[in-house]
Amino acid sequence: MKIIDLRRDTITLPNEEMKEAAFGAHLGDSVYGEDPLQRELEEKAAQVLGKDAAIFLPSGTMGNLVALLTHSRRGEEVILEENAHIRSSETGGAAAVAGLMLRSLSNSSGIPSQEQVNSAVRPDDIHYPRTSLICLETTHYRYGGIVPPLESMAKIYELAQALHITLHLDGARLWNAAVTLGVEPSVIAGYADSVMASLSKGLGAPVGSVLAGSEPFIREACRYRKMLGGGMRQTGWLCACGLIAMQPENIARLEDDHRNARILAEGISLLPGVKVDVDRVHSNFVLADISETPFTSGALVKRLAENGVLVNAVDSRVIRCVTSREVDSEEITIVLETLRSIFNSCSGL
Ligand SMILES: Cc1ncc(COP(=O)(O)O)c(C=O)c1O
Repeated sequence: MKIIDLRRDTITLPNEEMKEAAFGAHLGDSVYGEDPLQRELEEKAAQVLGKDAAIFLPSGTMGNLVALLTHSRRGEEVILEENAHIRSSETGGAAAVAGLMLRSLSNSSGIPSQEQVNSAVRPDDIHYPRTSLICLETTHYRYGGIVPPLESMAKIYELAQALHITLHLDGARLWNAAVTLGVEPSVIAGYADSVMASLSKGLGAPVGSVLAGSEPFIREACRYRKMLGGGMRQTGWLCACGLIAMQPENIARLEDDHRNARILAEGISLLPGVKVDVDRVHSNFVLADISETPFTSGALVKRLAENGVLVNAVDSRVIRCVTSREVDSEEITIVLETLRSIFNSCSGL
């Protein structure tokens, strides 16, 4: 049975071009700054993200943690949206490793309002932790890949600059956001002092993320990358793939994933009892609330898997499907047919 995998866009595999480039890569010790492809990738990432400099890291989680460590001191406070990946899905590294307090603000648009952030910034008083950093996220993972508007990001960045607080952007899927908004990645990154972007999700590289910012920020970030074990020596294998991942046509291809997500969302929304907010399908994620169907998420995930379709349960009511280069439009049609047949077989329940 052919498996159609909609669990995550992290399942993407390197294409033939990436594999060939990896096998032909000239390698060197990247900790000594001698891996030519890591150097090239870091220069390219800085250019694409519109920053002075960038570094390559093994994961997005490490990129965000290095940014937190570089921007803040222990005991300081970071303002971020309640469901931000840094707070919800990075194993508490901000507290456990960086010693930071997290001040979370709830906003289902994926980005706190300027007023929310303004009132959360601590006054200069010895009783309070110092507010050192604001973190934003695009696309927003937990809210199903929604893309906060640039105007909202601009307002927060304006406030951060006025208050001399730095702003870090978790842009694991910044590339998807750029495609959705129809702007260059650097335009979005322009509303942050530092930005992390992943190469290993929709772009298809097997491993790696980049962190970009000013020269002094990146110089310091290099130390924390080494401290956390991110000095990886002969990285050219990986960076060869990362360079192809960042090619404009590879980024533009994400539009196919977004189109497939919209088709999937519209199809799923027609299933009896299923709620999908199609207007919130901004990129490659689809969240479907199945609480008014005969299924729990676990049961539906299992039925789909038995029929060759893999999706994830977010909780007992909501399932998540993520489109990627591993799933084409014909397979999206098969997924919808499979769902219809499962729902039809249960219509009497
Ligand atoms: C928004 C966001 N930030 C950070 C990460 C962490 O990336 P990694 O899995 O490479 O550690 C993810 C992973 O899915 C993510 O969705």
